[in-house]
Amino acid sequence: MAKPEVVAGLDMGSGRVTCLIGTPEPEGDRLRVLGGASVPCRGINGGVVVNILETKSAVSQAVEEAEAAAGVTVSELFLGVRGTHLQSFNNKGAFNIARTDREITAEDVQSVVANAKAIPLSSDREILHVIPQSFSLDRQRGVPNPVGMEGSLLEVDVHIVTASSAHLNNVMKAVAQAGFEVRELVYGLLATGEELVTPEEKDLGSLLVDLGGQSISLGVYSEGSLRYSKEIGVGSDFITRDLAVGLRTSMATAERLKITHGIAHSSLMNGDEEIEFSRVDGRTMDKVKASIMMNFILPRVEEIFTIIAEDLQGSSYADLVSPGGAILTGGGSLMRGVAAAAEEILGLQARVGIAHPEQVAGDEKWFSPVYATAMGLLTFAQVSRWGTGVARQTSRQRPAWMRRLTGLFEDLF
Ligand SMILES: Nc1ncnc2c1ncn2[C@@H]1O[C@H](COP(=O)(O)OP(=O)(O)O)[C@@H](O)[C@H]1O
Ligand SMILES: [Mg+2]
Repeated sequence: MAKPEVVAGLDMGSGRVTCLIGTPEPEGDRLRVLGGASVPCRGINGGVVVNILETKSAVSQAVEEAEAAAGVTVSELFLGVRGTHLQSFNNKGAFNIARTDREITAEDVQSVVANAKAIPLSSDREILHVIPQSFSLDRQRGVPNPVGMEGSLLEVDVHIVTASSAHLNNVMKAVAQAGFEVRELVYGLLATGEELVTPEEKDLGSLLVDLGGQSISLGVYSEGSLRYSKEIGVGSDFITRDLAVGLRTSMATAERLKITHGIAHSSLMNGDEEIEFSRVDGRTMDKVKASIMMNFILPRVEEIFTIIAEDLQGSSYADLVSPGGAILTGGGSLMRGVAAAAEEILGLQARVGIAHPEQVAGDEKWFSPVYATAMGLLTFAQVSRWGTGVARQTSRQRPAWMRRLTGLFEDLF
């Protein structure tokens, strides 16, 4: 397929809408980011649309600002979604090759994946992704691509992500009302992982942690694919709220204090300066010592990573992630000392993830963790459009109200 001129990724975060527009470089597979924008959105709460009109405005603003920065216009978007309405689990499928030639075809692969996704789902939920982890042929495990091989029993392990249909529909409605078409819906974590987790880290075992404002996404990779994913309904905004309540100031002031002075680990404390800020009335000025401010921030940071550690322990995937360690991203990973806090509480090596310059190019600011998911969506779009890869495993490519999943699943590969 010919390379398109521009692609756009829209990350419906847990509390922000973030857009990046990119273009494939003429030579090679690299993508160049042309422009982007990230705006707060009061219409979404933890990734769920609570006000379509406000969400529509935020989508318009993010895309229009990104278009202005990029100097191009876009009509269709790769849309990243997140939030605790997303759930995931692993499943298996099997398919007997009854033909005499027994050479596995792409249709056989489609059939075995269809078998793996034939699961009972309540009427208010739908499948967002079916991600094949590995195939086995006549009980021989670890076959990466069985097409062209011979065998009689084809099996597959898959990771399935399901979503609330109503929540997806509301997100899609807001985007449609803003005047954009959704080319594909993607679980944000999946796109982010494509961008930030290296093939080696995916192979060895690693943990992706997207620290959003109101939601945290976890992804465990091992043996090359996603084994576990989870949305947890806490986030970095909780730190802001604690600070606002503790200092009796507004959320906006607390956010500014957090971003300018906040640290996630006590080892970064350097002196004990007095910090000036305005009270909640916006007029009365007050002062607080850095050490006092940390008394509000550090316990919440600790709590967040403890929740992550406990979830991981409860998942039975905790043992897989130590070789590659934790890769942190999302706006929350910008707080200084966050990797140190993660290392201490998760007991893993941790780094803040950064997109690989071999994959994407562009101004430094687009490499911020705030844009990681949107950048992942661009990479995802690239793979989906003129390559073969994970995007092709998405089962949902049309607005829900246009195309209901009725058990007739279309192309997987
Ligand atoms: N420099 C920073 N230091 C600390 N926290 C930050 C910084 N920048 C953004 N954040 C926090 O990141 C969170 C938003 O993360 P982001 O990934 O942009 O949102 P979303 O959850 O919508 O994907 C907010 O809680 C915000 O306060
Ligand atoms: Mg984010």
